[in-house]
Amino acid sequence: MSAQIINGKEIAAQIRETLKEKISLMEKKPKLAVILVGNDGPSEIYVRNKQKAAAEVGIETELFHLEEGVKASEIEQLIENLNNDSDVNGILIQLPLPKGIDSAALLEKVEPKKDVDGFHPYNIGLLQNGSDKATIAATPKGVLRLIETTGVDIKGLNALVIGRSTIVGKPMGMLLLQKDCTVTIAHSHTKDLKTLCQNADLIVSATGVSKLIKADWVKKGAMVFDVGICRNENGKLGGDVDFEAVKEVASYITPVPGGVGPMTIAMLLENTLEAYLKQNA
Ligand code: GUN
Repeated sequence: MSAQIINGKEIAAQIRETLKEKISLMEKKPKLAVILVGNDGPSEIYVRNKQKAAAEVGIETELFHLEEGVKASEIEQLIENLNNDSDVNGILIQLPLPKGIDSAALLEKVEPKKDVDGFHPYNIGLLQNGSDKATIAATPKGVLRLIETTGVDIKGLNALVIGRSTIVGKPMGMLLLQKDCTVTIAHSHTKDLKTLCQNADLIVSATGVSKLIKADWVKKGAMVFDVGICRNENGKLGGDVDFEAVKEVASYITPVPGGVGPMTIAMLLENTLEAYLKQNA
């Protein structure tokens, strides 16, 4: 039997609709400041999409587009100004930053209450401690929400996360651990990824390698979540997973596009509203 295809586009649209209703009742609207440095094409598109989605739910955004050669100290100054601006509820630094800029050092400058990406060590620490006060990074939070929509009890499942980034892999692993999965985090130095995949009941793949995950890598009935965004051999947008083949083996699967991607934006908007509410409690 073919897998159930998880429609992230539709689920994200419902979440945005709920956010829009809540925000429409608020006199003062949440505001998100977005810092974009340089001219990375994909980053410019992501930022535009985030701003458009924010506007649709009633979140105001302000873009600070800095030139490629900007000094780290100038970005730090901007962050400090935004930290001190009571009209700004969320600060997003679009990653990756140009080479030579220490992203981790800058992310630490963001006031944790305004860290809508959940990248500040304070929020990462809260997540590690299992605190419900943690702001959780948008992509892993979105994947977890998709898992929840299936209604499947994931307790005790062997979960494999492929990728160990701060943005996806590490927080994803921590979230699945908190849901009582037995978690393996694989990465570019991992030996025999195929065997790890074959033993997994749930796979979250975030590598950016087109069609890395083949049908014979996936256990029958496994749940498969594809965070990758790649161009395949025909130049078509796809993911890490060989979707057409793997959907014949998996129980649930996310497509690319229309799976995890729209959830990332919906969760960013949700985090921005939550930041506003925390600041105005
Ligand atoms: N670059 C890729 N994904 C993300 C994200 O979720 N947040 C930010 N700030 N940058 C990214």
